Amino acid sequence: MKLRDKVAIVTGGGSGIGAASCYAFAREGASVAVANRTLAKAEAVAREIESEGGRAIAIGADVALSADVRTMVDRTASELGPPNIVFNNAGISPAGRITDISEAEWDACLDIDLKSVFLTAKAALPLMIEAGGGVILNTAGTFGIRAARNKAAYSVAKAGVINLSRSIALDYARDNIRCNAICPGYVDTPLNEGFPPSERDAFLEQYQPLPGMIGAEDVAEMAAYLASDAARMITGQVFVLDGGQQAGLYA
Ligand SMILES: NC(=O)c1ccc[n+]([C@@H]2O[C@H](COP(=O)([O-])OP(=O)(O)OC[C@H]3O[C@@H](n4cnc5c(N)ncnc54)[C@H](O)[C@@H]3O)[C@@H](O)[C@H]2O)c1
Repeated sequence: MKLRDKVAIVTGGGSGIGAASCYAFAREGASVAVANRTLAKAEAVAREIESEGGRAIAIGADVALSADVRTMVDRTASELGPPNIVFNNAGISPAGRITDISEAEWDACLDIDLKSVFLTAKAALPLMIEAGGGVILNTAGTFGIRAARNKAAYSVAKAGVINLSRSIALDYARDNIRCNAICPGYVDTPLNEGFPPSERDAFLEQYQPLPGMIGAEDVAEMAAYLASDAARMITGQVFVLDGGQQAGLYA
C-alpha cells in the first residue's frame, strides 16, 4: 500500500479523474477527504470507499471561495488528521474565444481552475509543513502547454496552474513539500459529455497517436504514484498523459 497512513484531500472528487483518484488513494491506504461543489456527488464517492473498508469523508466546497477552502482544510484536519496530500483537481472547461465569452465567464474559469490552487495551497501548506511535509498535485492539462483554439480562458488557467506548481515546488522544497502538475490529454469523463462521439472520434483519430480512450483511472494511477514516497525526489515537474499527443505533429 503506497499511501498507508496518509491523509488526502481531493477536490472535484465527486466525478471523473477526482473520483477515480479518491478510489485509487483509498485502495493504497489513504484516508480521503472527497471535496466537491455538489455535496451529493462527494457523498456517493465517500460511501463507496467506506463500503470497501476504506476511510473517507465528504465535504461540500466551492474551491473558488476562500471560506469554503478554509473549511475544507480545517474539517479534514479535525476529522482525519492534517493533510499529507492535496490534489487540486476540480475544474471547468468552458469553450469560447475572447470575443465570445463574458468577463464573468473569464473570471469563473480563472477562479475555479487557477485561483483555487492558490487558495488551497495557502490554506493547507501551514498544516502540511507543521506535519513535516507533504505533496501537492495539480491537474493542469495539455492545453496549458499548447493553447487550444476556442479555449482562451481554459488554456490560460491551465498554463497558470503549470507555473504555479513550479513556484510551489521551488518555494517549499526545503519544507519537504513536493508539488507537480499532471497534464491529461483527452480523458473519458463527464467533462467531455458535450463533445459528440463523432467529433470525439475524429479528434482522437487525428491528434492522439495511441489508439483508445484515456480513462480517469489512468490519471488516478499517475496521481497515486506522484503522491507516494516512491516519488520522493520528484518535484516541480509536468507529467503529460495524453496517448502521445504532445510528442509532435501527428495530424
Ligand atoms: N477530461 C479531460 O479530457 C481533461 C483533460 C485535461 C484536464 N482535465 C482536468 O481534469 C480535472 C478534472 O476533470 P474531469 O475530466 O474529471 O471532469 P468532471 O467534470 O468529471 O469532474 C470535475 C469535478 O469538479 C467539480 N467542480 C467543478 N467546479 C467546482 C468548484 N468550483 N468547486 C468544487 N468542485 C468543482 C465538479 O462538480 C466535478 O465533480 C479538471 O481540472 C479538468 O480541467 C480534464
